[in-house]
Amino acid sequence: MIELSAVAAWRRYADEQRHAGRRVGLVPTMGALHAGHASLFRAARDHGDVVVATVFVNPRQFALDGDHRAYPRTPRRDLELAQSSGVDCVVTPTIEEMWPSYPEVTATTVAVHGVGDPLEGVDRPGHFDGVASVVAKLFNVTGPCRAYFGEKDFQQIAVVRQMVRDLDFDVEVVGCPIVRDEDGLALSSRNVMLDLDGRRRARALSRALRTVASGPLTASEVRAALRRVLGEGGVDVAYAEVVDPATFVPCTEHDEGERRALVAAVVDGVRLIDNASVTLRRAG
Ligand code: PAF
Repeated sequence: MIELSAVAAWRRYADEQRHAGRRVGLVPTMGALHAGHASLFRAARDHGDVVVATVFVNPRQFALDGDHRAYPRTPRRDLELAQSSGVDCVVTPTIEEMWPSYPEVTATTVAVHGVGDPLEGVDRPGHFDGVASVVAKLFNVTGPCRAYFGEKDFQQIAVVRQMVRDLDFDVEVVGCPIVRDEDGLALSSRNVMLDLDGRRRARALSRALRTVASGPLTASEVRAALRRVLGEGGVDVAYAEVVDPATFVPCTEHDEGERRALVAAVVDGVRLIDNASVTLRRAG
């Protein structure tokens, strides 16, 4: 496995792979890698791509500098996991190279409206601007590729897909299924910040989603059931919503068929998200 840091070397590596007739599979990460990331590396491998993983804790997607500093970092373990999951090249760019003006704001920001506006867009103003801006840079440096993202961040994938369409990136976005622990908790780098009791309560997110997955419900029944289970689980609900998975428009009582239920909750100061497919029935 090759380890690179300089943006020029990373660009050259990806160019060389394409010149040699290989397809580049990019897996953007913020490190603190876990089995969910490993599943993305394996998906890229299984597609026959040369797997390039980026590890960059992007300060522009955090509201507070403190949150950015508190984000878990496990550089040595990240390299081991990347290597054992078949990554060909790990890139760890520096903040200085990625955002030369940091901590000053950059003059250019990529803002994705529509799918980026509700839910996370309301709760974390500016978050998706930071994500879209950094992902645009990752795509520009890497060049034409397939890019792999985990569906735990379902809205993030919609934002990236919209940006790819609108700005004509030569990138195929691949969404990969959520990986869960045995107790149902969706894997997230933030889970390490939970103590035993927090972890027990955090299971309410996946439990709530399982509750609504079982049968056709109306949109308002889905919202009510999600809130009830989350409330019983002792977590602070940020949102419990059901939306059209393509547009992120909230469902109404007239909607039926497959939609996406999404939840966000805070457990002891740790913000967690999860989502699942749900089948709606029309009210009445
Ligand atoms: O999902 C993440 O880890 C980040 O939002 C991403 C896509 C690597 C951008 O910093």
